[in-house]
Amino acid sequence: THSLRLGVAGLGTVGASVVRMIARRADALSAATGREIRVTAVSSRDRTRDRGLDLSGIQWFDDPVALAGSGEVDCVVELIGGSAGPAKATVEAALASGKHVVTANKALLAHHGAALAKAAEAAGVALAFEASVAGGIPVVKAIREGLPGNAVSRVYGILNGTCNYILSRMEREGLTFEACLKDAQALGYAEADPTFDVEGFDTAHKLAILTSLAFGTVVDAEGVSVEGISRVQPLDLRMADELGYRIKLLGVAQATAAGIEQRVHPTMVPKSSAIAQVMGVTNAVTVDADAVGELTLIGPGAGGEATASAVVADVTDVAAGLVRPAFGRPSATLRPSERVEMQRH
Ligand code: NDP
Ligand code: HSE
Repeated sequence: THSLRLGVAGLGTVGASVVRMIARRADALSAATGREIRVTAVSSRDRTRDRGLDLSGIQWFDDPVALAGSGEVDCVVELIGGSAGPAKATVEAALASGKHVVTANKALLAHHGAALAKAAEAAGVALAFEASVAGGIPVVKAIREGLPGNAVSRVYGILNGTCNYILSRMEREGLTFEACLKDAQALGYAEADPTFDVEGFDTAHKLAILTSLAFGTVVDAEGVSVEGISRVQPLDLRMADELGYRIKLLGVAQATAAGIEQRVHPTMVPKSSAIAQVMGVTNAVTVDADAVGELTLIGPGAGGEATASAVVADVTDVAAGLVRPAFGRPSATLRPSERVEMQRH
């Protein structure tokens, strides 16, 4: 069988790690899939920047949409980010020219996932997005491939590494919000615009994807009520601590009589609970399902290497010929969102 030729669009924190991982794990990946997997094309804005990558023999594109249309690419790995602009154009161009797509872009999927899934299905190609939710935790696979025999009643968790990192360090080290955010950015955890992290939108995007997988709803970020952590003060953390609680930014989706409710907000959790032990960039996702009961996955929620791990998992699925509908057939409806305000002291 011929090799799988990857076009990697975006060579930032995640893209650079993916290119390195594909090279480092070449033998293992071909052993696992029976095919050689190689990067044949890349795209980024700044061609002159040294990214510590060996790009010899790899074609460079200034325009990721041109990469998506290249005859030398079978699968486009979109790691640019953003729900519009070049990321959306690249994914649409890839699907329109019959190429598989692997993406870590939860913002794009949360807003346009249904249309993109339709385009992928029409083209008979994969639209894979393991890395879009909870970084290195294989939670998309766990829910979609591991639980089809279950009716899910609730899925919730800590879905943003940046926020959990900030809250953890504010609490443990008494640092300011601003200092912690700066460190999260330096470590490659934060979104290009960190407002998405700290105002809860990134958690909402991931929750919308999880909701669709767990309940069979049409993925819809607009249906999530959102409050972030930007108004959480050191005093809030101290008061919570005195009462025996920690504050965590949670995303929660649960079945109600009126449909599936989705919300994101800072939440007081008892210090003795399992979720309160999840500190730093770590994420946790809990699923309540009728057959397996309660299932929790815990692991790194952000960072180049951890996220590349999830991207490469999708790439091997594509190499192995696995093509399944991205979100399945919709079977449930969302409850209209109501804005939830955090209790203030
Ligand atoms: P970065 O900002 O580090 O990288 C983005 C890359 O896209 C850069 O290489 C940039 O080019 C390139 N780019 C931007 N605009 C264009 C354009 N018009 N044409 C070509 N290239 C362009 O982001 P991350 O690597 O952190 O994130 C990438 C994606 O992965 C996002 O969707 C993000 O949400 C998602 N993600 C990130 C995680 C993380 O921990 N960082 C975890 C899970 C998902 P240049 O380098 O030249 O500026
Ligand atoms: N900015 C995101 C986070 C990256 O901090 O969780 C992982 O999706």
